[in-house]
Amino acid sequence: MKPFIKFFLLALLFTGLAVSDSTSVTIYVVGDSTVMTYVEKVYPQTGWGQVLEYFFDASRVKVSNHALGGRSSRTFLAEGRLDAVMNAAQKGDFLFVQFGHNDRDYSHTDRYVDPKDFPGYIQQFVDAGKAKGMNVVLISPMNLNGSRNVFSTGDKNYDARGMMQTVANNNKIPFVDLNMKSYNTYNTTYKNIPDYVTRYLYKKLEKGEYPNYPDGVSDGTTHFQEMGSMGHAQMICEELEENLRSNTNLSADAKAALTMLVSAIKKRYTIKVQTNLSNYNGLITQTQYFPAGAPMTLRVTPNGQTFEKWVDDDCNEVSKNMIYYGFKTKARDITYTAMFQGGSECKKIAHGAEDQYDENPMSSSSGTPASSASIDAKLCMDGSDKGAWPSPIDMSQPEMGEGTTDTDHEGYTGQGFFNISNNASSTATYNITSEQSASNARVMVRYSFDGTENRDMKFKIDYGTYDVAFPPTGSWTKWDTVYIDDVMLDALDFKLTIESTMEKGGPNIDMIAFDIKGVYRTGCGVPRKQDSVVVADSTKKPAPADSVKKEPKGSKSDSSSTAIGHKWMAEQMGTSSAKFNALGQKVRSENSRRHEVNRKTFLWRKSVTR
Ligand code: GCU
Repeated sequence: MKPFIKFFLLALLFTGLAVSDSTSVTIYVVGDSTVMTYVEKVYPQTGWGQVLEYFFDASRVKVSNHALGGRSSRTFLAEGRLDAVMNAAQKGDFLFVQFGHNDRDYSHTDRYVDPKDFPGYIQQFVDAGKAKGMNVVLISPMNLNGSRNVFSTGDKNYDARGMMQTVANNNKIPFVDLNMKSYNTYNTTYKNIPDYVTRYLYKKLEKGEYPNYPDGVSDGTTHFQEMGSMGHAQMICEELEENLRSNTNLSADAKAALTMLVSAIKKRYTIKVQTNLSNYNGLITQTQYFPAGAPMTLRVTPNGQTFEKWVDDDCNEVSKNMIYYGFKTKARDITYTAMFQGGSECKKIAHGAEDQYDENPMSSSSGTPASSASIDAKLCMDGSDKGAWPSPIDMSQPEMGEGTTDTDHEGYTGQGFFNISNNASSTATYNITSEQSASNARVMVRYSFDGTENRDMKFKIDYGTYDVAFPPTGSWTKWDTVYIDDVMLDALDFKLTIESTMEKGGPNIDMIAFDIKGVYRTGCGVPRKQDSVVVADSTKKPAPADSVKKEPKGSKSDSSSTAIGHKWMAEQMGTSSAKFNALGQKVRSENSRRHEVNRKTFLWRKSVTR
């Protein structure tokens, strides 16, 4: 580790001083053709080492990709390529190593590495990196797109994954299990979408799909297109985060370096992709989780249905091409819809404002704090951090949601309520920050709904899913509460998604509240940003908060609704938990999420990013 980083971390540990991190480290990447950087004329072919940089704050982490096609661990070393990396690298930099594909290539003796020699070659990378003071990360080779995992099954078993893991364990350094992660992604997440991995992630291109391949190309098992590489770089970031959370075998130095690296991973946004058809049966790009400014491709390959255009969540046309590539992701959660003839009309989807995102941060900048999302300060509710419900959250304007922000039924709190679309699986997602972890938090949900049968919903909070029953309240202006118990939270940022389960949609949701302190809409933490832009994109405008204060309580005007809500809020915030514990239904969770974590990570991350 570089001495100044060590000093920086020590200074934070022992003095709590806000030291600005004005320097950057470089990740040197070594590997094979699935990792290397390709020239423009073979686009969309891309290696994961080519796009890894998009996931890191560029002012703090740079990526230098030395991977080259056809190389095994042995030939990469023999050609002096690791020496070249060592000449360029500095103490404190990172060395990311992925080998195995060419090592296992029985048909090319010039590349092949006998499995009994493989760990020794990998150890040479570790030793060279260590001697230079670098932080080495071993990455198991991603699964080839086939019916089996060539590294762990079949006659000619070549356990590159297991061997790399052993070397990583012996050296107490991070092990990124890209092999297992990609295997699970292809065989679980994309299992029921035949051809998706082959045609959208790997390089099986039909005639004329891309200008560089007028005759098409059939490489559906080994090499990635840009979206495949982006997906794998995303998996690598998740695995780095996972190592920090749960790898108990890391040396103190490796852990400190990894903490710094993970803190420089950029915030990722949900890029939801859908069609306006209920019976679409062709291929379509799946929902992605990428940082702002990353390359993105939207694709549809219909099966007889007529494609018209791509629209964003404001119903603006973004492209008429079935393959829309070469654009950069925005700094917010966003939904793109493929519009087809005969499908439903475009409806605007509520969404948050764009976060401030600097495409070319100054090299001296210390990076954007994770909680700096710009949010309308009016949405920041004040629980005064005391009472039974110290953390109330206005639900009227999600970061992304199917439905509208409404104010036409009185009695709501805050800026209005969210009226989720009347469909079976409409969702609304909120970015939430929690300053502490909890295994048994209680969440109150305030809602109203006029009807006869329940409108039950699923609440996804952090990694847990909770079924919540919503019985009718008698009228749209009669607000009631239900409770979710034993909610697990990891400290830091997470998403809260509410999802309707009934054809008729869900109830109107006014607010939720946590019974623990320090949970708020991301961006609402102290110090609050008072000058940020308005978030809502609703078809009906929320009542201006200013007018509320001027109205006398109990007035029949529109703003009296907020007066009723405010009174209710004040009562709730001061109410003892005993009273609330006696109320409400118990909703038990089947939450398997490991929750022993993160206070530490949170403190690290907070101190390093501020
Ligand atoms: C009515 C009501 C809305 C509500 C909707 C529904 O239109 O005014 O506030 O959301 O019904 O059924 O969900």
